Amino acid sequence: MKSSRCDQTEAWSALRGHYEAHGREFDLREAFARDPGRFAALAVEAPSIFADLSKNLVDTATVHFLVDLARECGLEARRDAMLRGDPINHTEGRAVLHTALRAPRGQGPFADEVHGVLDEMLAYVETVRDTRASGIRHVVNIGIGGSDLGPQMVVPALDAFVHPGLHFHFVSNVDGHDIAAVLRHLKPAETLFIVASKTFTTQETMANAHAARDWFTSNGGTDIARHFVATTTNVQAAAAFGITTTFGFWDWVGGRYSLWSAIGLPIALAIGADHFRALLGGAHEMDRHFAEAPLARNLPVLLALIDVWYRNFHGFTSRSVAPYHQGLKRLPAYLQQLEMESNGKRVDLDGDDLPFATSPVVWGEPGTNGQHAYFQMLHQGTDVIPVEFILVKRPTHALSGLHHKLLANGLAQSQALMLGKRTEQALTEKAPTASRQLDAHTVARHRTFPGNRPSTTLMLDQLTPTSLGALIALYEHRVFAAGALWGINSFDQWGVELGKALCNDLLPRLASGDTAGLDASTAGLLARLRA
Ligand code: F6P
Repeated sequence: MKSSRCDQTEAWSALRGHYEAHGREFDLREAFARDPGRFAALAVEAPSIFADLSKNLVDTATVHFLVDLARECGLEARRDAMLRGDPINHTEGRAVLHTALRAPRGQGPFADEVHGVLDEMLAYVETVRDTRASGIRHVVNIGIGGSDLGPQMVVPALDAFVHPGLHFHFVSNVDGHDIAAVLRHLKPAETLFIVASKTFTTQETMANAHAARDWFTSNGGTDIARHFVATTTNVQAAAAFGITTTFGFWDWVGGRYSLWSAIGLPIALAIGADHFRALLGGAHEMDRHFAEAPLARNLPVLLALIDVWYRNFHGFTSRSVAPYHQGLKRLPAYLQQLEMESNGKRVDLDGDDLPFATSPVVWGEPGTNGQHAYFQMLHQGTDVIPVEFILVKRPTHALSGLHHKLLANGLAQSQALMLGKRTEQALTEKAPTASRQLDAHTVARHRTFPGNRPSTTLMLDQLTPTSLGALIALYEHRVFAAGALWGINSFDQWGVELGKALCNDLLPRLASGDTAGLDASTAGLLARLRA
């Protein structure tokens, strides 16, 4: 596959010149003062999501140069190749077709297979959700990485839609404290275990699945076939484990893109067939936007271009995500896998070293909690860290007096990051808690905010299956677009292999104490662990 690296384009050189002339010293406050139409010019409407890009360190000229970059990198052709099912995951010879999982019946590649499994899975879901007949009260999803983080993020996000008689638990860590804490509260007859693993070979998942099966039989559980189901591409391995109900998917679904497939079974059990179809529908609307909107109005493309602008021109190393919705508390963890496993790469498609940076560190917490923890650094630290605010206009709870406070906090943070506070202004203000021993100027210096710190605000009307589907698909396509601009393979993850192989070597050594051939540190630690 021909590489189309961003740094080898004319647009890249133009952007370098633009950065030196206007980008480095760009000031948001001056930009708003200069251009009364800035908010409208940098507002983008996408399905279920309104985006305000105006608090970013760009103007319409920057966007123009960035869109040229996307065009010159052949982003549209690479997008079309993905949507068509070309094997763009070239190191594994696989297509990347998570979009096919949410295409309407009869549309898109593999439509018959996709809708065949979906229909079967959703029919099964309704039998379990009939809790009187099924007797099931607890659902335990055993999986890790992409077989855990998607459902674990979505189920609490859609709490308002969750079956009131079902409780959901997610076990991922091979640390037995994880599953032990869940099993302690359960009874075999009321519990359904889902063993979720694309490969059905992942050490952590298999170890936890065996632990669950042992617990089940030794606590009087009698019908493994009814209480264990699998979601996997490896149907034979699931059968060998003794599972007779398996919902399959395919090698063209990447683990971190798999919540739309059978891996979404816990989500479907939680919210039911119609809402699960709405989640798929919301994602499909975003797929259409990504496929059809012109680059300059294409939200995932614009977010990816701003990512490249920040990472490769401004040199920012991380991005913080601040969902002002408690239901989205696991979104940062989900995005960490999506973005950092996809774009944490150091060679291009041809295997050549990259001379520029790729994935930023993605991190965050729900607002307003983050405000009382690390926002200090965002406002006054030495690093500039772009923040992504997610605001939801209407809550799904009916409690009065809370939601406006939440929204005002979100707005205030993006405003404060941008506006800052000058020393002169701080000097005019009272600071009742400041030490009387210090002179006024020193106190004012500590109370100065540099401002000009960028943020994006994504706004949803309400957090529903449809809007959440659109939001997740937005992030997926943004990650794809950034990877395409960088000329990397966003769909493999060789970086996790080495640790797995070394773990397999160390496991028997922990039992035997054999340290032959190990480095002195590992040998010393292993000996202490055994002592
Ligand atoms: O850690 C690497 C990884 O392969 C992820 O990409 C994947 O989501 C996770 O492990 C789990 O894999 P599986 O679904 O095959 O158990």
